[in-house]
Amino acid sequence: MAQNKTMGKYGLGYHITAPKGLLNDPNGLIQFNGVYHVFYQWNQNGTTHTTKSWGHVTSDDLIHWTNQPVALEPDEWFDKDGCYSGSAVSFENKLYLFYTGNVRNEKNERESYQCLAVSEDGIHFEKKGPVIAQPSGYTAHIRDPKVWQEENNDWWMVLGAQKDNLTGDTLIYHSTNLIDWTCKGSLIDHANEDSFMWECPDLVQFEQKAAFIFSPQGLTAKGDEFNNIYQSGYLTGEFKKTGKFLPDDHPFKELDRGFEFYAPQTFQDNNGRYILFGWMGVMEPEVEAAVPTVQDGWIHNLTIPRELLYAEGQLIQRPVVELEKLRQGQPQVIVGKTKESLQLTTLQNEISFNWKEAAGSFAFQIRNEVLVEYDKALRRIQVTRTNWLTNKRETRAVTLKRPLTQMQGFLESSTLELFVNDGEEVFSLRYFPAQEVNTLDISFCETDKEPKITAYSLKQ
Ligand code: FRU
Repeated sequence: MAQNKTMGKYGLGYHITAPKGLLNDPNGLIQFNGVYHVFYQWNQNGTTHTTKSWGHVTSDDLIHWTNQPVALEPDEWFDKDGCYSGSAVSFENKLYLFYTGNVRNEKNERESYQCLAVSEDGIHFEKKGPVIAQPSGYTAHIRDPKVWQEENNDWWMVLGAQKDNLTGDTLIYHSTNLIDWTCKGSLIDHANEDSFMWECPDLVQFEQKAAFIFSPQGLTAKGDEFNNIYQSGYLTGEFKKTGKFLPDDHPFKELDRGFEFYAPQTFQDNNGRYILFGWMGVMEPEVEAAVPTVQDGWIHNLTIPRELLYAEGQLIQRPVVELEKLRQGQPQVIVGKTKESLQLTTLQNEISFNWKEAAGSFAFQIRNEVLVEYDKALRRIQVTRTNWLTNKRETRAVTLKRPLTQMQGFLESSTLELFVNDGEEVFSLRYFPAQEVNTLDISFCETDKEPKITAYSLKQ
């Protein structure tokens, strides 16, 4: 069944959503026998975070997705209260899923089991049960196994964890057969007392550099940073064959500067590209309960697939090139206008801004709701939206490393992903316009500094 897109006024087209209920983290990302598989955390029975199963969609091209039967249901003693997040690898023509079995025992205490399920066809999975039990020195908050293989064929797994002293950490395990796992201790030596749990760890390795991606909970807001309820970001460094990650002397950097990006996961496709999906996303519980789509029986979506690259000391995210196939018809092109109101004809759009040299200061407003402003002198870009619970305006901002020269926005009726300076920064957010307007209102403060604007309608 192709993805069902009749989800009310704020329904989405090209983003992955669940057919109903609540979707959260992307899980088990893999290209298996040529087909892209995306699994996701799914509460099929409501829009709250109760029992989770693994929803499943597949695609040949990363843009057209087909719903598959639920891959994992919480129906065994080791996962009865939720098949939590995890990852996929392919081994001897089989698809291996590693996930966390979340259990509440008779005393209502948490227990976590790292479990395996195997499939030959990529659709039907046979559960093999737990492969890793509770390590000592840690609370039962141990979850989200991410597995990968090194060139020498060794398998490694990182696990999000909480130490007995209630601070966040990541454990690393080693295996040669995917069944027997040995704990090698903490992935990184650190003294981070600021966060109480690290969720969804992941490791990417480029030729020049590795990056350890994770979602720490409990960071304190600091200026433009860490303003969401929870964060997702990374440290750059080196991964040693001993199972240690040695971080560079760079601070933790957020992957996204918007409002609710969380729990990203990456995989390498058959061409060796690292592709990332994130969840849009994490919110304060009362804000989540007020999301207007709850009325239509669904909540949340994944981000568009983004290619992950490394350049000049940081990770770069770009919409995968396949998304260009969503473009339909001729684009609207605008050059040399200081003030413009662009009427969009569909709710799905791609809009790019390219400056010959650096941008001057400007403001543009999407559907009378999301305001994007750039201050040339400060090199600061700021995004403002209305919080749908409080009705107050709220902002996120970042100071760019270099002057602004390029922006590319992917829009749907209630999502925006704005890629800045070819993916050096990204803002992802949900928004719910109060009025039925479909315009982009742009005003540039300096003549001679207007960009070329190209606006495409996108297919569902
Ligand atoms: C992150 C997370 C994971 C967990 C899953 C449960 O959003 O809390 O740590 O496995 O969601 O749905």
